[in-house]
Amino acid sequence: MLFKCAPGNTAKHLVQYRMDTKAPLSLLDWYKKNGRHELPWRNTQDAYHIYLSEVMLQQTQVKTVLERFYFPFLKRFPSLKALGEAPLDDVLKMWEGLGYYTRAKNLHKTATLISELPSNIDTLMTLPGIGKNTAHAIAAFAFHQSVPVMEANVKRILCRIFALQNPSPKELWDKAYELLDTAHPFEYNQAMMDIGSGICLPKNPKCLLCPLSTICTGKDAPERYPQKQKKTVPTREQFIMVYRYNDKLSLTQRKGKFLHGLWGFESVDDPLCAAEYLGEVTHAYTHFKLICKVYVYDEPSKEQMHYFSLSDIRNLAISKVDEKILTLL
Ligand code: ADE
Repeated sequence: MLFKCAPGNTAKHLVQYRMDTKAPLSLLDWYKKNGRHELPWRNTQDAYHIYLSEVMLQQTQVKTVLERFYFPFLKRFPSLKALGEAPLDDVLKMWEGLGYYTRAKNLHKTATLISELPSNIDTLMTLPGIGKNTAHAIAAFAFHQSVPVMEANVKRILCRIFALQNPSPKELWDKAYELLDTAHPFEYNQAMMDIGSGICLPKNPKCLLCPLSTICTGKDAPERYPQKQKKTVPTREQFIMVYRYNDKLSLTQRKGKFLHGLWGFESVDDPLCAAEYLGEVTHAYTHFKLICKVYVYDEPSKEQMHYFSLSDIRNLAISKVDEKILTLL
């Protein structure tokens, strides 16, 4: 591979550029010195482990995945085959607290369809829950293919390097392929993620520490890239009606699209007039804020309901909101 100095740079410490992609040579050095090499999904060849980590990391921080979810999940479901053979309820239970349960359902669905992951990106993308980015990440990390990854942090880096305020997905993918270190795709992609999570931060990025600053055209005003999208999330309000009987609480298993399969307290149009109001709990989802006004009634319901003791409830998969409601009760 050929290298040249940045134009006009003669000092020894200044970054060198690869002629083929213009990525600075020092990115690889930076990763060797500063990368999070200890992350377990970076130290395995098992495609299932890597796939699991990518799915968990889609909407959850590394620290949470690492400390609470990744290892227990793999202990309970050590292979794709074991995952496919397990009941969905068990998978949801191991996912409890991670949120975005569609991820767990799609993982399980995929595991019922295949026992080995394909390496081809297009084939990967036919599997439930595997989008373009996850397919690229699995291809790059599990199968050492020379392709870029594009998670949220990487998008921000690309926007800044190329001073893009509102790029289309195609523009971003083109830039990602342009910048990729084709000789070291694994290290390059992991380094991009580490820079995204520790240096090229949304606010107050640490440009002075960044190995990419020499090629970054947005570094004089990094916070302009990408342009912030004004997000106004709607609020949804629900009445929650809990029946308490013989120290047991009424719960139902959700059937609709939202939180499907999880157990939870029932939402109703009108709580019973005689029910006691306990207060409200709130939870912020990506697309809306949920406010639950919680009522309890110390009699069994006239409808047929399932009643569970507190220790029974610990064995059910319930959502974060329902956990919050439980603490009110
Ligand atoms: N987020 C998604 N994939 C990741 C990885 N391999 N390392 C750290 N964070 C990630």
